Amino acid sequence: MFFYTASWSLCVIIYLIPSASAYTREIFNDKPPLQERPPWLQTCKRSSPNENKCFRQLFEGCFPALAAGIPEIGVKSFEPLNIDQVSVSKGSGNLVLSGGFQNLVVRGPSNATVRSASLDLARRQLNFELELPRLRIRAKYNLKGNILLLPLVGNGDVAMALKNVRTAVYTKISLRNETLTGDEIIHIDEMKVSFQVGAMRIHLKNLFNGNEILAASINAFLNQNGNEVIAELRPDLELGLADIFHGLWNNVFSKMPTKLWLL
Ligand SMILES: *[C@@H]1O[C@H](CO)[C@@H](O)[C@H](O)[C@H]1NC(C)=O
Ligand SMILES: *[C@@H]1O[C@H](CO)[C@@H](O)[C@H](O)[C@H]1NC(C)=O
Repeated sequence: MFFYTASWSLCVIIYLIPSASAYTREIFNDKPPLQERPPWLQTCKRSSPNENKCFRQLFEGCFPALAAGIPEIGVKSFEPLNIDQVSVSKGSGNLVLSGGFQNLVVRGPSNATVRSASLDLARRQLNFELELPRLRIRAKYNLKGNILLLPLVGNGDVAMALKNVRTAVYTKISLRNETLTGDEIIHIDEMKVSFQVGAMRIHLKNLFNGNEILAASINAFLNQNGNEVIAELRPDLELGLADIFHGLWNNVFSKMPTKLWLL
């Protein structure tokens, strides 16, 4: 009864991060970078890394290892993906909301397929697009606001399911020397993320301190108007996701010296 499964697609708004470093959650990681090429890491030509879709295959080839986690270089499992916090703050229009989601556990990232991935060292760009057929999210929420004329206030558990998520990630990179070994690594200086969601189901538990009648109407409303709700929150969510993924991907790239995969 909470589930709304009709498919719709949403327009994408590209949202630029004003200043990447001010928002990025850097991950502290004192593990040394890889010194030998693991079997899952393919190599590409430095002069033309995208030849025959080489970089795309290299990128996709890393996913099973990332999903499992690579403890020796301090890379945590991407499956499930644990995210501390995503905040929302939307002060005008049909949706007024403040608060956020905490302790998110996201299942499904390991099933991502890479639609495209390209590396351009001369233009300092590393871009990729992922398709995630299904994401299941469990989290704590703490929200207060209004949707149209309905008040929404509560905190507790939230379950979400997203279908057919497509995300495009555009980055500006630079080459740096890793601090421990001096190995050349790729560093993401700026990242912007855009996403589209095919369908969303959401269930917020303990809305209005457990008033079941008000809670049921809000949950029904959220599910019936999922596309509008996501559209309203999109700028916040895209910033939040860029913030999280910027740190995660830098943690990965900083431990994968280019000498192992760019020949
Ligand atoms: C990945 O996809 C398969 C096939 O659809 C599914 O059985 C599995 O549960 C998915 N894995 C996760 C972690 O969602
Ligand atoms: C990295 O190290 C190399 C060789 O040690 C040096 O020539 C280069 O200037 C360094 N690059 C940066 C960005 O510090």
